[in-house]
Amino acid sequence: MSFRRVFQRGPKLRRVLIRRYENRDEKRVLSLAQEYASWDATPTEADIQGFFASEPDFFLVAEMLGDIVGFVYGRESKNVPDEVLRRWRATKVGSVEVLAVEEHHRRRGIGAVLLNHLFEAFKERGIDTVTLSVPADQSGAKELYDKLGFETRGYFMKRKLQPNSRAEN
Ligand SMILES: CC(C)(COP(=O)(O)OP(=O)(O)OC[C@H]1O[C@@H](n2cnc3c(N)ncnc32)[C@H](O)[C@@H]1OP(=O)(O)O)[C@@H](O)C(=O)NCCC(=O)NCCS
Repeated sequence: MSFRRVFQRGPKLRRVLIRRYENRDEKRVLSLAQEYASWDATPTEADIQGFFASEPDFFLVAEMLGDIVGFVYGRESKNVPDEVLRRWRATKVGSVEVLAVEEHHRRRGIGAVLLNHLFEAFKERGIDTVTLSVPADQSGAKELYDKLGFETRGYFMKRKLQPNSRAEN
């Protein structure tokens, strides 16, 4: 995969480098993950190490002036049933697992550029279909994925069952 330098939009033009994650990025990526990408579980050091160990090509960071300002991690979805692949007209499926951009650097195109680089890496591996889940309170992320052409296929829902509750019908 080739790595391009991109120019950030906005009043302050700063160079953003999209590159693969390296071990030295661990502390910063962990802090971004914990601050912005904790959904039901807070990512741990072991999670970050696991991302790198399992899919180094799909673990990318955005670096600006030597600081990591965002990252994305994706993986190939193994074990997708043949029937699903047929229905989706897919050859191989990948998923976006985690995406986060530092708050001060948002709305300047970094999230979209990280995703587009990830999709290029996916394509190089033969992946032609991408899935992901978005926390319902992350409306900005939903807007971003809508803009990038993602189709909403369902809603992930949960409720708590009271121990003594009975069905009313
Ligand atoms: C979601 C997130 C990664 C977006 O990063 P970003 O660098 O700000 O995104 P971009 O600048 O590339 O946004 C591209 C487009 O997406 C849409 N978008 C992004 N954030 C938006 C927001 N908060 N509200 C409305 N639209 C938004 C816009 O259309 C935007 O284009 P525009 O700025 O020209 O209007 C960032 O807000 C974030 O880290 N959020 C917290 C973590 C999270 O939600 N992760 C994703 C969960 S799967």
